[in-house]
Amino acid sequence: MFDSVPRCHLATLPTPLEAGPELDGGVRLWVKRDDLTGLGGGGNKARKLEFLCADALERGARSLVTVGAAQSNHCRMTAAAGAVLGLEVHLVLAGDRPEVPAGNQLLSQLFGAHLHFTGIDDSRWGELEIYREQLIESLIADGAAPYGIGIGGSSPIGALGYVAGFMELMTDLERAGIEPAAIITTSSSGGTHAGLVAGRALWQARGHAVPEVIAVGVAKGVNAGLPDIVALAGEALALIGADTGLVTADDVVVDPRWMGPDYGHPTPEGDAAIDLAARHHGWIMDRTYSGKGLSGVLGMIAEGRFAPGSDIVFIHTGGTPAVFAPGGAAVAP
Ligand SMILES: Cc1ncc(COP(=O)(O)O)c(C=O)c1O
Repeated sequence: MFDSVPRCHLATLPTPLEAGPELDGGVRLWVKRDDLTGLGGGGNKARKLEFLCADALERGARSLVTVGAAQSNHCRMTAAAGAVLGLEVHLVLAGDRPEVPAGNQLLSQLFGAHLHFTGIDDSRWGELEIYREQLIESLIADGAAPYGIGIGGSSPIGALGYVAGFMELMTDLERAGIEPAAIITTSSSGGTHAGLVAGRALWQARGHAVPEVIAVGVAKGVNAGLPDIVALAGEALALIGADTGLVTADDVVVDPRWMGPDYGHPTPEGDAAIDLAARHHGWIMDRTYSGKGLSGVLGMIAEGRFAPGSDIVFIHTGGTPAVFAPGGAAVAP
């Protein structure tokens, strides 16, 4: 299915599917450990970068330029991909240069990336993108042959990572004899979610029963319907020659209730979910993404959203290095 698109090997796949605790109403939680994709500390972006970086190489790029929040996991993993592939990496980051880099920034620097601090606020993605465009222009003028990757790598090419990821998960589940009621992921720039719903539609078109896919939105954009997940999924499907109309608006479910006041602002529910994950299984979740995502899963289960005895899969999309940045965890004294 993916033969028509270039892909390079960056991630350690398949990632494990682990059994979690039984929760309210006998609902069983399973966790797909995409925090263990390997590349530069792991996380969901490794899957997207396999397709994005292959496209960059095919186009003759010598450098990668991307953008993100101050503690962007996507930027850190792009830095690692550049180190693997021998490409120079430029990261346009929110915030100011810290005196001592920590978490994702520390790793990005270790991987040899150039960090461009913009002084722009974490959630002002439009302004960050403009900065990235300007940087690309100056790199072109310098002959650096840059390849631009938009926020979160959530282009149709990037979303292919999670079309493939959905297929991998279905294979895991078939082997384990599990038929989940839902697959739940954390969503911020939308590419993971779009890839999953595209993969789900393909799987269904092949005659399989499919679970619901639910996104827990942790950024204002995705919670307001941006990007358009139906369009993004359709464009991803087009790249592999599939029917672009397979995904409809009914397939796109975003639960916006777990973000709290804004992207990157910790919530009590998120911190409680982080504690449960850590103490139950040694799972490490962060306060911007996976912790809030899991809080959504727990909240939906507590509301009785799933039938008693159902299996639910949460995709642990990563975020581990952010735990080691200032304020990255709420640890009781
Ligand atoms: C740890 C983690 N989880 C989830 C996401 C959300 O993925 P997406 O941007 O594809 O919606 C991100 C994106 O930055 C992330 O770093």
